[in-house]
Amino acid sequence: MSDIQRFDDLADFSPERIAALLALAGRLEKHPEPEALKGKVLSLLFLNPSLRTLASFQASMTRLGGGAFVISPEMSIHGLETRPGIVMDGAAAEHVKEAVPVIASYGDALGLRAFAERRDLVEDLEDREYRSMAELVSTPLINMESAINHPCQSLADWKTMDDLGAPVSGGKFVLSWAYHPLALPLAVPAATIQMAAMRGMDVTVLRPEGFELPPQVMDKARSLAGRSGGSISETDDRAEALDGAHVLYAKSWSSTVHYGDKHEDYQLRNRHEDWCVDEEWFAPAEEDCRFMHCLPVRRNVVVSEAVLDGPRSVVVPEARNRMWVQMAVLYAMLGPGL
Ligand code: CP
Repeated sequence: MSDIQRFDDLADFSPERIAALLALAGRLEKHPEPEALKGKVLSLLFLNPSLRTLASFQASMTRLGGGAFVISPEMSIHGLETRPGIVMDGAAAEHVKEAVPVIASYGDALGLRAFAERRDLVEDLEDREYRSMAELVSTPLINMESAINHPCQSLADWKTMDDLGAPVSGGKFVLSWAYHPLALPLAVPAATIQMAAMRGMDVTVLRPEGFELPPQVMDKARSLAGRSGGSISETDDRAEALDGAHVLYAKSWSSTVHYGDKHEDYQLRNRHEDWCVDEEWFAPAEEDCRFMHCLPVRRNVVVSEAVLDGPRSVVVPEARNRMWVQMAVLYAMLGPGL
């Protein structure tokens, strides 16, 4: 039995196990183990686009001596159907109900990316599509971003803050909504707020009215903060949020009051085009306050070029940390263990 069978949600792991994963990631970064996963195969099913997650998992397997293959709808000559109960008389000739167990059967573990449909908030909060596909898999499974979670991103973000020496107790973490022309999923903000809460930080969600994170997400984060000694608050006041901040993590997400209604969401978000992170935002923050973002990011839309190219930005090492922490997860899942 491997040390990790499922990597669905960082909140499934105790502080001790997260500390062990982060220590292992640091060790693998300094001391390569190119034979640790010799002969092991990671199957990857990406139902949505990716640069970092896909490339970093392939690199992770290669660095540990194993291999990976990827299947995505763009590659498939058959087309993939995900809807349950559908009459398959359209373009797609293969259903995930067969495709997922077949792809999983070729590897020792499966990585699955399935973004939110963004039609029904309850369905997305329950992560119904990811969970229904996870039920079809008997091998170990890694969440590569689902409707409401992105645990690999969060573990990399945690490592990035540790690398920077960002304070834990008394560390002030601001998760800010930022303008984007499209209604994006809630997965990264939901995963990020709980990660910072688990790390024991004082977390503030900064967002305009209509972009509040769902109560389920806030309640889960509050419960995690209660256990770690952190705290959770929410405001639309930028100066108040950033007062004394150590980290500003920007992300765009859908309006939760108009979830699934593209027209109303568009009308609301377009009133907030000024929510583009600029150097002025950092005036009330700590002098060395860092800028984080999971990437991809739209320059001069989500964040100014000056911030992104300046000394505050850690987005590239943050993305690189995806590889080290994922190597630790794979090592615990398929190799010698934690
Ligand atoms: N941050 C992240 O998951 O990037 P990709 O969508 O490019 O994988």
